[in-house]
Amino acid sequence: MDPNRLKGKNILITGAARGMGAANAEAFAAQGANVCLGDLDGAEAEKMADKINAAGGGKAVAVRMDVTSRADNAAAVATTVEAFGSINVAVFNAGLNKPRFFMDIDEDNWDLIMNVNTKAMWLGMQEVARQMIKQGPMEDAPYKLINVGSIASRKPLVDVTVYCTSKYGCLALTECGALGLAEHNITVNGYAPGVVVTPLWEQLDKDLVEIGFKEREGQAYDDIVRNNLVIKRVSYPRDITGTASFLASADSDYMTGQMISIDGGWATT
Ligand SMILES: NC(=O)c1ccc[n+]([C@@H]2O[C@H](COP(=O)([O-])OP(=O)(O)OC[C@H]3O[C@@H](n4cnc5c(N)ncnc54)[C@H](O)[C@@H]3O)[C@@H](O)[C@H]2O)c1
Repeated sequence: MDPNRLKGKNILITGAARGMGAANAEAFAAQGANVCLGDLDGAEAEKMADKINAAGGGKAVAVRMDVTSRADNAAAVATTVEAFGSINVAVFNAGLNKPRFFMDIDEDNWDLIMNVNTKAMWLGMQEVARQMIKQGPMEDAPYKLINVGSIASRKPLVDVTVYCTSKYGCLALTECGALGLAEHNITVNGYAPGVVVTPLWEQLDKDLVEIGFKEREGQAYDDIVRNNLVIKRVSYPRDITGTASFLASADSDYMTGQMISIDGGWATT
């Protein structure tokens, strides 16, 4: 890992207390970036920031935020700028899932998932872009927004209609955002994981048994590996950090409006 690849990048990452967000924060800082870890769980985000600071590399700060609040998004941007002087990359990673079959979806399920996964991404993009526009264009590089999508941004899945709707929305925000923010020298890209073993998937695995889609815990992993994945294993946050780092780095400067599948080949099956 090149310890200077992301030097000079000041990066806000939402949902960074655990899972892929935390792994990305660690990887970015190990490559020289300063990172602001935003999460609903402020205490865990603090702990993760302490761990990153103890490791050397770029600096880390934490901020408690609910991504569905415009004020919290603005405050997270302000925290990043106060700590590091500016913001030039943001990763909109916070997200959740609660499976339901189509006829069992209710307003609460719809609002929860759509608000956290999609509406909050739009709010965050706008608040971060507002600050980037205020800073003025960087001379040598574009500002970068990175949206976390999913295989559910590309495939209909019978057990998670609302999650699919929300993540198709993340793809639309990536493509439309690229068009809408280009004039400000801001690129918008993203990545779309498949099955990543994190607290989100561990909960989903249990919920899929509860709604009667699977008979036993672990069955969803086994079925997806057998039926959907080209690379015959599930993934871990460490499988994702390289793609996220690429999108944060200068190597992706001539890219916008793209969502990279990093899903063991699922999108092709
Ligand atoms: N795990 C997978 O298999 C998988 C696959 C495809 C896409 N994704 C997406 O990747 C992203 C990260 O997922 P993960 O698996 O690491 O999840 P995770 O549950 O391990 O971590 C998500 C983090 O987001 C935070 N969060 C939730 N709601 C929030 C809110 N309202 N405000 C601020 N923070 C909030 C949580 O506290 C948690 O720390 C999500 O957008 C998810 O939809 C995950």
